[in-house]
Amino acid sequence: MIFETHAHYDDEAFTEDRDSLLKTLSENGIGRVVNVGASPESCQTTIELMEKYDFVYGALGIHPSETAALDEALFAGLREQCRHEKCVAVGEIGLDYYWQEPEREIQKKWFVRQLQLAKELHLPVVIHSRDAAMDTIEIMRAEHAEEIGGVVHCFSYTKETAEIFLKMGFYIGIGGVVTFKNAKKLKEAVEYIPMERIVVETDSPYLAPEPNRGKRNDSSKLPLVINEIARIKQLLPEQVEEITWQNAFQLYRMEKVY
Ligand code: NI
Repeated sequence: MIFETHAHYDDEAFTEDRDSLLKTLSENGIGRVVNVGASPESCQTTIELMEKYDFVYGALGIHPSETAALDEALFAGLREQCRHEKCVAVGEIGLDYYWQEPEREIQKKWFVRQLQLAKELHLPVVIHSRDAAMDTIEIMRAEHAEEIGGVVHCFSYTKETAEIFLKMGFYIGIGGVVTFKNAKKLKEAVEYIPMERIVVETDSPYLAPEPNRGKRNDSSKLPLVINEIARIKQLLPEQVEEITWQNAFQLYRMEKVY
């Protein structure tokens, strides 16, 4: 079975066929899905999916690009949401400097607060970090992220940066980008990262793997990601599937029920 560690099925891209699509995932070998919240609204819709589908769990948090709207009342609401029995992580949280907004100080403030929330609730974190490696690492070190644990999702940095996250005990989320022909740096990082620290994800509806690049993504495309990791690691796809399945249960500290 395949463990989808990061998807956004609450996204409006799935409005037309969300239920029919989710019902077909198990036929396509997808055994677990962690749906990831990114705003107060999507945390609520993530909870609705967690409650509707046995195989869907949730990560709840505020994406850096959504932090401008955060205040103490919304943050208190997030804390309550994170106490849900099927909430397995705080996320996605982090820094995104690809976009100019919100200003970096605001992103940093809520990244720190959400790391502290994860520590308080004994939950791992799902980190989103784009064009912001140095500040992400600095904040994670200052907040002792090695005591929190989690995953750096949709990893996009070099193998040298991967080494730093690995030393903090983090898992690395690999998605469709690894199948892109021009993703040389990422393929090198995958070669370097130990197999026991890799988990697979789609970030659906985004980042569809080749040959679906640019189209809407969903978890049934994960075999394309697994095949490419297997090629790089010189393993069989079935081995990558099994190891990443085990890794994801460790990452999200879930009981193994087969
Ligand atoms: Ni995401």
